[in-house]
Amino acid sequence: MKIKLNLYLLAAFSVIMLNSFTVTESTDQKVEKLLSQLTLQEKISLIHGNTYFTTPAIPRLGIPALHLSDGPCGVREENAPDRWGSANWTNDATAYFPSLTSLASTWNAELATEFGNAYGEEAIARGKDIMLAPGLNINRTPLNGRNWEYMSEDPYLTSRIAVNYIKAAQSKGIAVCAKHYALNNQEFDRGTINVEASERALREIYLPAFEASVKEGEVLSVMGAYNKFRGRFACQNPYLLQEILKGEWGFRGLVMSDWGAVHNTMEAATSGLDLEMYPIDGKKEYYMGQALLDEIKAKTVDEKAIDDKVRRILYVMVKLNILGKAEPDTTGMAALLGTPDRAKTALKIAEESVILLKNKEALPLNLKNIKTLAIIGDNATCKHARGGGSTIIKAKYEITPLEGLQSRLGNSVKINFVQGYNASKNFKSVDKALIAEAVKTAASADAVLIFGGLNHQPGLDCEGDDKPDMKLPFGQDELIKAVIKANPNTIVIMIAGSQVEMGSWISDVKGLLYTSYLGMETGTALAEVLFGDINPSGKLSYTLPYKLEDSPSFLLGEYPGKDGVVNYNDDIWVGYRYFDTKNVKPLFPFGFGLSYTTFAYTNCKVDLTQKTDPLSCVVSFEIKNTGKLEGKEIAQVYVRDLESALPRPTKELKGFAKASLKAGESKTMKVTLDKRAFQYYDPAKKQWVLEPGKFEILIGSSSDNILLKEQIEL
Ligand code: BGC
Repeated sequence: MKIKLNLYLLAAFSVIMLNSFTVTESTDQKVEKLLSQLTLQEKISLIHGNTYFTTPAIPRLGIPALHLSDGPCGVREENAPDRWGSANWTNDATAYFPSLTSLASTWNAELATEFGNAYGEEAIARGKDIMLAPGLNINRTPLNGRNWEYMSEDPYLTSRIAVNYIKAAQSKGIAVCAKHYALNNQEFDRGTINVEASERALREIYLPAFEASVKEGEVLSVMGAYNKFRGRFACQNPYLLQEILKGEWGFRGLVMSDWGAVHNTMEAATSGLDLEMYPIDGKKEYYMGQALLDEIKAKTVDEKAIDDKVRRILYVMVKLNILGKAEPDTTGMAALLGTPDRAKTALKIAEESVILLKNKEALPLNLKNIKTLAIIGDNATCKHARGGGSTIIKAKYEITPLEGLQSRLGNSVKINFVQGYNASKNFKSVDKALIAEAVKTAASADAVLIFGGLNHQPGLDCEGDDKPDMKLPFGQDELIKAVIKANPNTIVIMIAGSQVEMGSWISDVKGLLYTSYLGMETGTALAEVLFGDINPSGKLSYTLPYKLEDSPSFLLGEYPGKDGVVNYNDDIWVGYRYFDTKNVKPLFPFGFGLSYTTFAYTNCKVDLTQKTDPLSCVVSFEIKNTGKLEGKEIAQVYVRDLESALPRPTKELKGFAKASLKAGESKTMKVTLDKRAFQYYDPAKKQWVLEPGKFEILIGSSSDNILLKEQIEL
């Protein structure tokens, strides 16, 4: 009997083992089996696109086409297969989510998960397999035309938002694509510029978000950038692709090129690129097409190198469970896109991302005091979804600020709208007649809202160019100053996806809200914040300098570079790491944002639960809502290394937590710091090091408002 039972147990155990063995082995087994059945010709066909956004199917083996699509704010409208431009579908209008800068300014990793979930569902409904986002490049210069597509100047904040976004989106059955790997921090000469950066800047500033996306987010694809790094194009760069991404970080997914970012067959074939997208000059010639086939036949490239590329493409397909999948059925698709629950997610992110930068008892607006409201500025009526480059969206709808206010206020207030400035192509133009009209409208109103900032015109927040300077375009400084003079009850709402100068009028304005592009519910979110239905809780994800000349890329570094090279002499001194350490006062610091209520921080405790590997340090503190309104506070945890062989920034962000508190309520917050929080990258040792000694843990409401601190020794 006993023997029989043991035999049963053994049999059951074997089945379990066999099953788990089959499960863990099956991805690789499936991949290898398919790979062994492919002809060389078929393999070559798989490693480049066949239309602008697809790869070819191989029906005899059940290998489906991969459907790729931009971009960070949602699924782009269908592109024509054989040219840039719309396929003119009538059923592909989608949810338009806030920009990634907005998401980052919520400092809410749970919202990044919600964003990822909604974004993944939209992509599935559109029949897409790989979504070309998130953009993870660092805001190095205020002038980068694509800053609004990225998240922050800080690698830690970017990493935390990215990891949750990626995990959630991929949990819906799509792959996302971490881009643009790496050092694509300007649009100027982006296709040719050679970036020279130190190993320390690379590791500490420009790579951590990609590293976290691979190691923690398990991102399934990465897009190589347009630019060169240390003399080699990023898409043909063995150091970035093979050594770091695939070697050190163990990335198993596929690396695709940015569109048209491949320049040489041999280099592309042997440097770690797996998928070439977009043919040469728009013709059907790919560097990794016939030209590569010829090289293999001539035995100048080993077929094994191609196998690795195909293996990774098949690996992604197996992970997505799309082998044998038919072409997406688009009937009935329109009803599945931009659904009310996804619009609600877009709204939630918009609400939490709005940043209150100044408030001299001006906000929230009190309806009792307002009979006539002047609304001034082109951004009150401008729709932003259809601009910006590859991130453009055919939005199901987009509520402008004016529309949001009209529906919030109904007939209770008389709204007088005037355009205020002419958002023409000439950024320097000042329209005196529009200013005069705005002044007149403002003078007779009880309160004035100016909606200004930037838009997605080429040369502003738009792919392909950088901004000419940090100034507000279209004579907005003149407009704002004149309107404040006419009516001191003026509030400015600045909609901009990158830094703009505001120093010439900041001391005269009563209230200032600052946001990036907020998506389909822009107007709803802004009206809610202005009238206090929502208490603003966003904080800056980048430093706002007084002027361009204060910023480190301008002062220490080079921008946009000379003779095709840009030296990142600003090194690790990017954003607040520079302003803080060198004592340069910005207009508003990194991490800054006010609320309609107030908060107090007390009771800091640092518990070094484990000093040795894996190091774990739990920082706890209490936040109390000391005001009269419910609100949310973002507490930031910075680390300062007090004794270090290499120069280190005065402080670096290593943790944060967002608390939602009723009036009078307190909560204990806990933030866990790991080993990386205390390390720096030592270029001599070629590794991250933890130098024993004293460290300070700094807890604050922004990078320049530290409220609690504790010292520890490691
Ligand atoms: C952009 C990418 C984008 C691709 C496809 C490129 O110009 O740099 O971000 O995903 O086009 O539209």
